[in-house]
Amino acid sequence: MHNDFITPFYLHYYNSGVWGDTYWLGHRVLKCPLDMILYQEILFQLKPDVIVECGTNEGGSTLFLASICDLLKHGRIISVDIQDRKPPQHDRITYLIGNSASEETFIRVRSSIAPEEKVLVILDSDHSKKHVYQEMKLYHQLVSVGSYLIVEDTIIGHPVAPQLLPGPMEAVYQFLGENDKFEIDPTKHKFHLTFNPNGYLLRVKE
Ligand SMILES: C[S@@+](CC[C@H](N)C(=O)[O-])C[C@H]1O[C@@H](n2cnc3c(N)ncnc32)[C@H](O)[C@@H]1O
Repeated sequence: MHNDFITPFYLHYYNSGVWGDTYWLGHRVLKCPLDMILYQEILFQLKPDVIVECGTNEGGSTLFLASICDLLKHGRIISVDIQDRKPPQHDRITYLIGNSASEETFIRVRSSIAPEEKVLVILDSDHSKKHVYQEMKLYHQLVSVGSYLIVEDTIIGHPVAPQLLPGPMEAVYQFLGENDKFEIDPTKHKFHLTFNPNGYLLRVKE
């Protein structure tokens, strides 16, 4: 998806570190703002009942999701992290502490979701291939048909931070090679700059 202009811009944007100096209502959010607009569009379109986020960090992204849910008057967020960094409290947010790739944490998440609820999942915790693949194997089960499994930071190695390979993109390819229920949604590349190229996976089959 990269062309001669985009690749240098990706590297320039990522290497500037500005993604660590981006805020939602005063809380740090480690995302590209263009991805946040995509999230808003997805939430408006789907109006999910539950958003599962693996990787809370300081909770800026979680608060962003809750703010959009407030505007839509619908939805709640379950956000998981291995570490408690005292993220912002909000009526729509439940924080869980645990290893997101463990069966035990997954069962805790799953037990708080009713079978008929529409679920969107965002994987944004440990970005190693092994961890992301393990999360995909677990959490894809929760994603409703027509909703998304979003794998964050597939830009790792493509083209930024190659020292961190194999990363999320490699997990996506392995997972998709074994699972025909999800497809990459190419329409999510429309802003050209995304931290999640090939990472917006649409569930197309039960
Ligand atoms: C990239 S940050 C999350 C960024 C956040 N979603 C945002 O957009 O601002 C990754 C987070 O994953 C957490 N993490 C790392 N390994 C984890 C694991 N095994 N289980 C759960 N969380 C983990 C880290 O503590 C860190 O807070």
